Amino acid sequence: MKHFLQLTDFTAEEFAHLFERTRVIKERFKKYEPYQPLVDRMLAMVFEKSSTRTRVSFEAGMFQLGGASIVLNTGDTQLGRGEPIEDVSRVVSRMVDIVMIRTFEQTIIERFAAHSRVPVINGLTNEYHPCQVLADIYTHVEHRGPIRGKTVAWIGDSNNMCNTWLQAAELLDFRLHVASPAGYELEPARAARAGKGHLEMFTDPMQAARGADVVTTDVWTSMGWEDETEARKDAFSAFTVDADMMAVARPDALFMHCLPAHRGEEVSEDVLEGPQSVVWDEAENRLHAQKALMEYLLLGKVTQ
Ligand code: CP
Ligand code: NVA
Repeated sequence: MKHFLQLTDFTAEEFAHLFERTRVIKERFKKYEPYQPLVDRMLAMVFEKSSTRTRVSFEAGMFQLGGASIVLNTGDTQLGRGEPIEDVSRVVSRMVDIVMIRTFEQTIIERFAAHSRVPVINGLTNEYHPCQVLADIYTHVEHRGPIRGKTVAWIGDSNNMCNTWLQAAELLDFRLHVASPAGYELEPARAARAGKGHLEMFTDPMQAARGADVVTTDVWTSMGWEDETEARKDAFSAFTVDADMMAVARPDALFMHCLPAHRGEEVSEDVLEGPQSVVWDEAENRLHAQKALMEYLLLGKVTQ
């Protein structure tokens, strides 16, 4: 049994399979061809943090594949009253076929997975957001082909998305440029682990964006860090992705953002809504990529 707790749970070859299945599943969906290999399968989604895209894409995706889903928000469940995550895992995983969790520390999802009888998917933790980067790289494949050998510039907070992009750079062999303000840089141990040629860190965001094939960013304050919002607005003020920054990237560079976006903070309105932005495709591709992911975790390598 496999879990998807971080990108490194899968090999490059497994990602190639997922990208191909995403293409096939998306194409069928666009042609209104029903594809229901997961009839009678049940997905449980555990949310300890807010969500729009993750909830809708998993719920719609599971329904379209023939299955059904249940949403468990911390506040409405015994988790909110202190039931240990191990006990929740043992109970829920006896009743459903697959689980997605959005929570705080990565250790929480690891503890859940260790006690689960069914595959567990990371729907975002403090450390990683693998479903988003899966959809983002598929979006690159759709627009520009394979990401191997390309340069992705990460501008802003060294958060869960940045950590996941770094794992992707190593797995799929591309370069990640990271520019973060002082005090918000990648953890040194994480940066030190990065393979040679896959990570370059910058203090100047313009230098990081120079010549990049993809420029990407995220909110300055992630869920769980709300107390730091005002301090972060000051620290990140020179890290807005705007037209001047996009102008130093390659002329055909894509702009990516996992959303939700704060216009005028991490990205200017004109870049977010401009011709290089593929943010709505990234959001849409969550649906298709996660259908491929659930198919793989439950049925293995389907080829038809
Ligand atoms: N990008 C993303 O995961 O969005 P939600 O927080 O709305 O799920
Ligand atoms: N880094 C953001 C991503 C939201 C989808 C957060 O964790 O809040």
